[in-house]
Amino acid sequence: MTAGERVAVRTRALTKEFRGFRAVDSVDLAVREGSVHALVGPNGAGKTTLFNLLTGFVAPTSGTITVFDQDVTGRPPEQVARCGVARSFQITSLFETLTSREHVELALQGHTRDGFRFWRSEKLLGRNRARVDDLLAQVGLLPLADKPVGLLAYGQKRALELSLVLAVDPPVMLLDEPTAGMGIEDVDRTIELVRRIAVGRTVVLVDHNMHVVGSLADRVTVLQQGRILAEGTYDEVRNDERVITAYLGEAEHA
Ligand SMILES: Nc1ncnc2c1ncn2[C@@H]1O[C@H](COP(=O)(O)OP(=O)(O)O)[C@@H](O)[C@H]1O
Ligand SMILES: [Mg+2]
Repeated sequence: MTAGERVAVRTRALTKEFRGFRAVDSVDLAVREGSVHALVGPNGAGKTTLFNLLTGFVAPTSGTITVFDQDVTGRPPEQVARCGVARSFQITSLFETLTSREHVELALQGHTRDGFRFWRSEKLLGRNRARVDDLLAQVGLLPLADKPVGLLAYGQKRALELSLVLAVDPPVMLLDEPTAGMGIEDVDRTIELVRRIAVGRTVVLVDHNMHVVGSLADRVTVLQQGRILAEGTYDEVRNDERVITAYLGEAEHA
């Protein structure tokens, strides 16, 4: 690593055991500031567990996590978020009867120190409205802003999730399978979207889709059975014999 390149998120010997089973096993990870860093690996490799560790949703059995050199090991999600790390919302947390606009408004309010501010002045609401419109436009949802979310297509709901994490404007954004379950058109649109929102921030991305990883990631960490199997650029890891073997093993079970 060259001088001046900061590490946004670092783990040292990070381990998570579930009843003695090591889902994440001695992982040393360094996510460089401003990079898109992908976590890949076959099913059960520990990607989601690592993701949950990084956001404070799961506490490690041992090891450490730092965010911009601040130790966040064992801190709850709100505190990790306050250090600048936010994860994408899950589709299951959307409210079917609320509109996209209302979701983004809630996400923005959640971000203010006072939370819900019903006494907010008209002027402030007007300013907020411009910000809401901008966020919805960024993910292509402005024309659908006032439709109940229950009426949106799957890809549109996933786009809404991205706008909700954008509303928080975190320096470090964690995206767990942003293209999962999408058709090819939505996948390509999401790649473009993630590329745009990655400008000026650090993104940690979990995705199964190698096209997505190859298009977006500056650096790829391959996990297998909780451990780091390989790490490098996309081209480096995809030509790695051990990685090919790990993925072939999975393909046989698919
Ligand atoms: N809460 C849990 N309790 C017990 N085992 C778990 C739990 N969460 C994950 N695991 C196990 O840890 C391993 C890694 O899971 P996970 O992190 O979901 O992998 P991935 O996201 O790479 O598919 C799997 O063997 C899984 O069964
Ligand atoms: Mg997973």
